[in-house]
Amino acid sequence: MASHIGRIGVDGIKSGKGGTPLVCLTAYTTPMAKFLDAYCDLLLVGDSLAMVIYGLETTRGVTLDIMVAHGQAVMRGSKHACVVVDLPQGTYETSSHQAIASAAHTFVETGCQAVKLEGGTEIADTVAAIVDAGVPVLGHVGLLPQKAEGRNDFKVQGRDDEGASQVIADAKAIANAGAFAIVIEGTVEPVAREITETVAIPTIGIGASPACDGQILVTPDMVGLFTDFTPKFVKRYADLGQELQEAAKAYAEDVRAGRFPELEHCFGVVKDEI
Ligand code: KIV
Repeated sequence: MASHIGRIGVDGIKSGKGGTPLVCLTAYTTPMAKFLDAYCDLLLVGDSLAMVIYGLETTRGVTLDIMVAHGQAVMRGSKHACVVVDLPQGTYETSSHQAIASAAHTFVETGCQAVKLEGGTEIADTVAAIVDAGVPVLGHVGLLPQKAEGRNDFKVQGRDDEGASQVIADAKAIANAGAFAIVIEGTVEPVAREITETVAIPTIGIGASPACDGQILVTPDMVGLFTDFTPKFVKRYADLGQELQEAAKAYAEDVRAGRFPELEHCFGVVKDEI
């Protein structure tokens, strides 16, 4: 995927099935997208922004307008990765009509390549309706953050036979409905493996093992900018929160000691006159 010319589309992601693992991260702002774009096949404007940007307890509570604004920001900052925007909870469950309206609005207003919805068999008809209306869909099965009413509701799915069968049935239903790829979140390895071996579209894992066709992480988790709680599946690649604190401390000390600003940071000052 790295040598792709121009922006990767959903067909480019689809062609990643069974190949070099797809690299995916979340992005929410223009500068963030600029930093991540060259390294990623897919950037997700996830509704995780409710927690990692807006300080909410769960991913519920963000509006379609908020998602569209962040989707536009990420599109402005990227030119290579396939950009997918989450439809937030409450914007697609009532009827196919509501779902198509939300998906089409997001697709047109942001110029993104696809939208993402959470759920399995119960939303398969909705996914099919959105795809029929011309908007590509990324599915999301397993642990569904939009169903969580609090932090304690984030639980690994598919640990028992019944749960495993449900996650597998959900993934098959979403694939049959026409999704171009599926995120599998918080699921045991054998379930993620079976789904990946069964469906014809790429699976993108988060807490779902290397068996998947690609991986995604919530970027602030990955770089230490969100530390309220860190799931077991997160690997920390940087500690930007710590660096930010150190920078703020050094700046505060300089300002209070009169060391900042220096002459080089001032306008209209002639060195010799000082
Ligand atoms: O909202 C989000 O960031 C997501 C990822 C966890 C896949 O859905």
